[in-house]
Amino acid sequence: MNPSPQRLTFTTPDDWHLHLRDDAALAFTVPWTAAQFGRAIVMPNLKPPVVTTAQALDYRDRILAARPAGSGFMPLMTLYLTDGTLPDDIARARASGAVVGVKLYPAGATTNSDSGVTDLRRVYPVLAAMQQENMPLLLHGEVTDPDVDMFDREAVFIERHLVAIRRDFPMLKIVLEHITTVQAVAYVRAQQQGTDARGAPLLAATITAHHLLYNRNAMFSGGLRPHNFCLPVLKREVHRQALLDAATSGEACFFLGTDSAPHARESKEAACGCAGCLTAPHALALYAEAFEQRGALDRLEGFASQFGADFYGLPRNAGRVTLVRVPLEVPDRLPYAQADIVPLDAGRTLAWRLEAGA
Ligand code: NCD
Ligand code: ZN
Repeated sequence: MNPSPQRLTFTTPDDWHLHLRDDAALAFTVPWTAAQFGRAIVMPNLKPPVVTTAQALDYRDRILAARPAGSGFMPLMTLYLTDGTLPDDIARARASGAVVGVKLYPAGATTNSDSGVTDLRRVYPVLAAMQQENMPLLLHGEVTDPDVDMFDREAVFIERHLVAIRRDFPMLKIVLEHITTVQAVAYVRAQQQGTDARGAPLLAATITAHHLLYNRNAMFSGGLRPHNFCLPVLKREVHRQALLDAATSGEACFFLGTDSAPHARESKEAACGCAGCLTAPHALALYAEAFEQRGALDRLEGFASQFGADFYGLPRNAGRVTLVRVPLEVPDRLPYAQADIVPLDAGRTLAWRLEAGA
């Protein structure tokens, strides 16, 4: 491949970890993602959370209704695992055909996670049902123990919890979401012996654009930068380099999940600001920048458009998208519901953009 191509055409990608929010927000969030992605896995951390299949189907209808005219974008739904989830809920979710995973938030780990799981042993019967039904477990992999340093929470989650889940449910499909550390990359890579019945990995990880592009200095350069604060929090440069290695490696266990997590400007620019970076409006351009840092644009298609679909046992998209090397200035603010919102990289000029009308 030409080391600095002017155009890049590839299979329409999917976003395997996304927050669309609800109600008035959908008129903004759905078009942002539908312009670039064929499908997205929609996180269930609404208020109240999406815990039943009936709720997931209603939420799906609201998302479908917010699609731009002519859009074929398909939301893939998730359930929010709580201490009260029952094994039967999993069979119902599987039978619906609309629910592709169940999300585990340790209680208190992140935005709207108060209903999360307080003790993993409590959900073991549900995990057994998920293994049985071939329903993937999507993990927010951070411990919430206040004695554990903020920057160590992912690595400690792997040691304390993920190792045990894998030991006790060896055939359970698991996605370690939005990985941020050397330890997570190493663990996922080292655990690729087994496959499911289709030959796809049992354990995979999603990687965000912001964790590929920024290290923790970005939260503090010249002052506190609330729009660069997300969970899991940005880490040191050595971790970012490990994530770039993983994303550009061509290994099928690492794929795209933006974790675009919109919060209105005033809830980010606050004494206690919300966690979450808005990357959806220019997500593909951000990933292209990251891959270009490694001269690995030829690996973007696998990461963005193939490995996630293969993991979930879904067909790859039939359509194509084209990125062109035409500067894209990220706006300082975008309209959002009744407020406004600041995207990641506001005011910066990106090298790539999606071809208009594509
Ligand atoms: C997410 C949100 O705002 O819903 N925030 C974030 O920083 N990523 C929740 C999450 O995925 O942790
Ligand atoms: Zn998320």
